[in-house]
Amino acid sequence: MRVSSLLLSLAGSVATVAAEPSKVVAKSSPSVKAGCQALEKPLAESVFLPNTAVYDYEAQNFWSNTEILTPGCVFRPQSSDELAEGVKTLVNADAEFAVRGGGHMGIRGSNNINGGVLIVMSNLTTLQLNADKSVLSVGPAYRWEQVYSYLAKYDLAAAGGRLGPVGVPGLLLAGGVNFYGNQVGFGCNTVINYEVVLADGSLVNANSTQNSDLFWALKGGSSNFGLVTRFDLETIPSTQVWAGAYTVSAEYVDAFLAAIATYASDIFDTKTHIVPALVPGDSTLASVILFYDSDNTTFPDIFTPFTKIPSVSSTLAFKTVAEFANELGAMVVPGINDVFVAGTVKGTTYDELYQGISIINTTFFNELPKLYAQVPSANISTIQLDWQPIGADWIEASEARGGNALGLDSSQVYLCYAEVVEWIGSAYDDVVASWVEETTYAINNATQKAGLYDAFNYMGDAAGFQSIFPGYGAGNHQKLIKIAQKYDPNGVFQTLMPGGFKVY
Ligand SMILES: Cc1cc2nc3c(=O)[nH]c(=O)nc-3n(C[C@H](O)[C@H](O)[C@H](O)COP(=O)(O)OP(=O)(O)OC[C@H]3O[C@@H](n4cnc5c(N)ncnc54)[C@H](O)[C@@H]3O)c2cc1C
Ligand SMILES: *[C@@H]1O[C@H](CO)[C@@H](O)[C@H](O)[C@H]1NC(C)=O
Ligand SMILES: *[C@@H]1O[C@H](CO)[C@@H](O)[C@H](O)[C@H]1NC(C)=O
Ligand SMILES: *[C@@H]1O[C@H](CO)[C@@H](O)[C@H](O)[C@H]1NC(C)=O
Ligand SMILES: *[C@@H]1O[C@H](CO)[C@@H](O)[C@H](O)[C@H]1NC(C)=O
Ligand SMILES: *[C@@H]1O[C@H](CO)[C@@H](O)[C@H](O)[C@H]1NC(C)=O
Ligand SMILES: *[C@@H]1O[C@H](CO)[C@@H](O)[C@H](O)[C@H]1NC(C)=O
Repeated sequence: MRVSSLLLSLAGSVATVAAEPSKVVAKSSPSVKAGCQALEKPLAESVFLPNTAVYDYEAQNFWSNTEILTPGCVFRPQSSDELAEGVKTLVNADAEFAVRGGGHMGIRGSNNINGGVLIVMSNLTTLQLNADKSVLSVGPAYRWEQVYSYLAKYDLAAAGGRLGPVGVPGLLLAGGVNFYGNQVGFGCNTVINYEVVLADGSLVNANSTQNSDLFWALKGGSSNFGLVTRFDLETIPSTQVWAGAYTVSAEYVDAFLAAIATYASDIFDTKTHIVPALVPGDSTLASVILFYDSDNTTFPDIFTPFTKIPSVSSTLAFKTVAEFANELGAMVVPGINDVFVAGTVKGTTYDELYQGISIINTTFFNELPKLYAQVPSANISTIQLDWQPIGADWIEASEARGGNALGLDSSQVYLCYAEVVEWIGSAYDDVVASWVEETTYAINNATQKAGLYDAFNYMGDAAGFQSIFPGYGAGNHQKLIKIAQKYDPNGVFQTLMPGGFKVY
């Protein structure tokens, strides 16, 4: 029996959460139940208790099974004002809550809660272009596939997720690694205005002239300051792009890893984006997502180090961003168990970057037998190791748009790596969690020894055991704490909303 169905059959009784086989602690303080009761009076039509169709749907609507818990009720506000009223009510009742956008932060308790109120953004569905179509207002209900298919009608795209099913709000609040990064920077840097519910229940705008400190903090600071009810996002003209996944066989792994270092050490064409990955299996595959922002040019020179390696498969072709995000989205399996882990090496030369890649590769593959010894291969759906190059053009484009909280320095090239494990059967949750933690420490100790380690962990790819804000640098971290305290003096978003990455 899947943990999710086990939990649902027990829904409504907080005490029974203890029956869950893993480490969730059942909360039974009065504040946990108080929220659902307090919301019932003013907002009855938007509050859903266990054993209703809406509760059953929303409480299951997460990317990874590891995220599924048993909230006391679901609060699905119909408008920003209703969310604002709900936050005020919850704060007055001293009640705990969690917030879920697209549900892709695969960390237990980051976007869900046992017993308390699960706030879901499903009905905050603004989706509108301004008069000259340069700005899209988008509510936190959406997944990127919906945004791209809407924009495609106008020959537009946006700097959002590469896989269609990923949620809009969590990605933009983490930073937003996107196809257009070398041209526009992080996705968050294309946001020109946020509409936000603050801890006191007020609804404010944050932009470069109004609440500009909050505007900056929301670019990488996640859920520590307020709940975003609308993102006003720059659009990007786009008819078609030349893009696809280009896959080579195991014998070429070294050439493939060298190609990553060649690209990363000299990203001379800003129309490009790459996501190179190794996929271990009976025979290891190396596959790179290649993206070229052009409707008339194939095989640009900068991709040659990859495309001169013979491929076993390739989907490279002209397509819309919407089509490409759907293609990539189909590569992942929803409804199983997943973990992502983040880490970073940095350098300025080919040699440094190649060495960083090689250490990560070697350490990861050395650790793999320990995972296979504990989880049968039939229960492993995917293992992947990927590298995301973030260089000077990307960082400078972010800075030109006002910067962000991430603290990256344009004199360096960052290779943000991610480990991904997806498995079937919650019986393996703890084994996988221990393995990725151990493996990550082994990798980071090795890169540190080589002088290539950086403390930056990209939030979107991070696991629950990792810390994020210290990696932004002490100055930025301190600034984020100050801004959180200014807009939320009682620390509502750190205490009553315990889930997610916290600045303090
Ligand atoms: C398959 C897959 C592909 C991915 N691809 C990319 C990619 O291409 N680029 C990239 O940058 N990242 C990517 N990510 C990482 C992704 O950015 C994060 O998982 C992100 O959190 C997803 O957003 P969400 O709305 O779905 O998350 P959720 O889990 O719903 O939310 C994440 C966090 O934000 C909080 N939150 C949600 N909505 C709001 C709101 N409106 N106001 C305040 N706080 C809120 C939640 O409480 C939670 O703590 C990917 C992840 C997966 C699983
Ligand atoms: C709210 O969202 C749910 C889930 O997406 C949807 O089925 C429902 O129609 C929405 N309700 C309103 C009033 O928009
Ligand atoms: C910034 O916020 C102010 C105050 O709400 C608003 O009048 C203005 O239009 C906003 N600017 C942008 C770019 O949205
Ligand atoms: C491709 O399109 C770009 C942008 O529209 C244009 O500058 C370039 O000349 C075109 N190249 C070719 C080979 O047609
Ligand atoms: C990457 O790891 C594989 C498996 O251990 C190994 O065969 C290969 O030589 C490594 N390549 C580099 C460049 O580290
Ligand atoms: C392992 O995976 C199979 C499906 O491949 C599933 O039926 C089985 O329940 C899983 N094992 C455990 C212990 O969950
Ligand atoms: C090095 O490994 C130890 C545990 O083995 C861990 O505590 C430490 O955080 C690791 N260092 C880094 C930079 O991850």
